Amino acid sequence: MDVLITEPANSPHIDQLSKRYDVVNDPALFKDPAALKTAIADARTVIVRNQTRLTAEVLSAAPNLRGIGRLGVGLDNIDVAKASADGIVVVAPLNANAVSVAELALGLMLSLARKLAAADRDTKAGNWNRKAFTGFELDGKTLAVCGFGRIGRMVATRARAFGMNIVAYDPFVKADDPGLVELGASLADSVVGAVGCADIVSVHMPLTDETKHLFNVDVFRSMKPGATFINTSRGGVVCEQDLVAALKSGQIAGAGLDVRESEPPGEPSTLESMDQVIVLPHIGAFTNEAQDRTYAAVASDLNRLLQGGAVENFVNFNQPKR
Ligand code: 3PG
Repeated sequence: MDVLITEPANSPHIDQLSKRYDVVNDPALFKDPAALKTAIADARTVIVRNQTRLTAEVLSAAPNLRGIGRLGVGLDNIDVAKASADGIVVVAPLNANAVSVAELALGLMLSLARKLAAADRDTKAGNWNRKAFTGFELDGKTLAVCGFGRIGRMVATRARAFGMNIVAYDPFVKADDPGLVELGASLADSVVGAVGCADIVSVHMPLTDETKHLFNVDVFRSMKPGATFINTSRGGVVCEQDLVAALKSGQIAGAGLDVRESEPPGEPSTLESMDQVIVLPHIGAFTNEAQDRTYAAVASDLNRLLQGGAVENFVNFNQPKR
């Protein structure tokens, strides 16, 4: 087969691929690693979201695979090093959903600052409680942007327009980075250093061995009492148990979580029962614009690849080496 799709993926761009190639669309395949290994053995390319685990073991079972199309930017579910060693191109349109994720982070900031979700629930229940929903302004507050890459920078730019001061933490960014200079932002040399002075902390880091549970009891304890915590990156960068404890103690006043340690989280946890917490089902990239850009980029690159050409949105190399 030319294209194997292992997670829900519906778009006119996929329909175009289906007209031209042998496409097998099995949206539940990601749930069954054994079936995935069998199906991928015959695939020339594969399209995944964030749930399909393309481990070294699975990739070893894919001798014909030339390309992986990732409908998003997070690569924590793909063994990119193994793909590279095997000569498989990894396609991920890194700019396609950045604006949407950044806008969602701002949406969560505003919602938490003005208690919008809780006020909506309360008013729909027949109440008219104005004082209970007294919030705070973003203007003049300090935002810690943890992870100053594409999305973090977009969040910082938008927050600046709301009058916020920016402190960034990113071990790969230098203090004279033009993005920081332009925003008048300062650079902290540790996560603890960044969160200590912030009214709102927003996380924009990939999930790696280094960032797993980076936001834990020590970081939450270092946060300004009553600060707000937002995560639209990956659930695994946060130790949820420690976050719950920080929310219960009041160290953190509110949290906005688009991503979870386990997705879906299964049984409703304490987080779901907390009025000061907004939980979302990983919808950062779910706008019409971001989805269309993402599908268009992946479909056109896989088409190029299947025609023997070079791809544009590569994260390792632009042509298969096998
Ligand atoms: C991403 O990594 O780009 C987003 O989390 C969206 O991922 P998705 O492919 O699962 O929608």
